[in-house]
Amino acid sequence: MKAQVLNAIKQPLNMEHHDDLSPDNSEVVIEIVAAALNRRDYWITQGMYPGIGTPVTLGSDGAGRVVSCGSDVSDLAAGDEVIINPGWRWGDNPMVQDEAFRILGMPDNGTFATQLVAPREQVYPKPPHLNWHEASALPLAGVTAYRAVITQGKLSRGERCLVTGIGGGVATFAVQFAAALGAEVTVTSSSDEKIANAERFGATAGFNYTQDGWTQQARDRIGEFDLIIDGAGGADYNQLVDLAAFGGRIVNYGATAGPPAKFDLFKLFWKQLKLTGSTMGSPQDFQSMLDFVNEHQIRPVVDGAYPLEGVNEALDRMKNSKQLGKIILEVSSIG
Ligand SMILES: NC(=O)c1ccc[n+]([C@@H]2O[C@H](COP(=O)([O-])OP(=O)(O)OC[C@H]3O[C@@H](n4cnc5c(N)ncnc54)[C@H](OP(=O)(O)O)[C@@H]3O)[C@@H](O)[C@H]2O)c1
Repeated sequence: MKAQVLNAIKQPLNMEHHDDLSPDNSEVVIEIVAAALNRRDYWITQGMYPGIGTPVTLGSDGAGRVVSCGSDVSDLAAGDEVIINPGWRWGDNPMVQDEAFRILGMPDNGTFATQLVAPREQVYPKPPHLNWHEASALPLAGVTAYRAVITQGKLSRGERCLVTGIGGGVATFAVQFAAALGAEVTVTSSSDEKIANAERFGATAGFNYTQDGWTQQARDRIGEFDLIIDGAGGADYNQLVDLAAFGGRIVNYGATAGPPAKFDLFKLFWKQLKLTGSTMGSPQDFQSMLDFVNEHQIRPVVDGAYPLEGVNEALDRMKNSKQLGKIILEVSSIG
């Protein structure tokens, strides 16, 4: 098998040849057809993630075909088309993950390889309406957006929802899920082009967060928001507190732009806001996300694809936030 391996932080990933994998009793070996990048992969290459151990094959997202199953696995067979839930060992509490929780692609070897071994319970059928690129794009960002918008955010039909930084993978799913629920969805971006594109997958308005006065324009045109989904944080985070409606909810799943410079506690309690953190999702969230995607025939937004050999260029594209949606790696032949 071939794998793109991180041997040391701030070094490019290196293609290596390893022995083919074989499953333990309760495991499944999968031939990866396509993988997708997450910001996490980039953070790890930069040493900006807790507990980094090398060498390791990165990659949390993947879709492929079953190659072989352990002796205890009787409900999957060679050739089955599957995706992998990258949140391992969530535990029994749907409210929060267990201490043992880990994300595929460090410490366990991930999907930037031609083969992957995973516990049976992490393997789910590939949604039939998705092509390989779309299927590989779904797992991590899809479950994160589902939990943020639906499980934690409790978004309802007709509510106003603001999704920040639409270029991000989670943000694109958040827009699609919120629109499918019948909410009125507004986005922010540093790019007018990305805002225009977001209208293709469900946004009805957008504002460029790099331009002065965007919050006032949003307030004038849309009003305040019942739910704000944010993965950026950053110096201007307080603007989101301003834009939240009385009794509104802010769900935060990331901090791409760093910690807030200021946080208005007075507005938090006066407006009776609910501020909630959200991380990936439980196995129930993952199954519900798949059911939702199948029911609404949602297709992930794909930015573009690189061959597995081009993983370092793909990571560069993510570093510079050029993408709109998910960046894909073509791993094995799509046939
Ligand atoms: N908690 C979890 O389970 C979880 C899961 C997945 C990701 N995350 C975290 O969530 C964040 C996003 O990850 P991702 O993979 O979805 O996205 P991504 O592909 O890394 O995209 C990041 C996007 O953030 C936006 N952004 C940057 N600075 C911003 C600012 N000041 N205000 C608003 N938006 C800003 C940009 O959007 P524009 O290009 O539109 O300007 C950029 O495209 C990362 O920090 C990641 O580590 C957390």
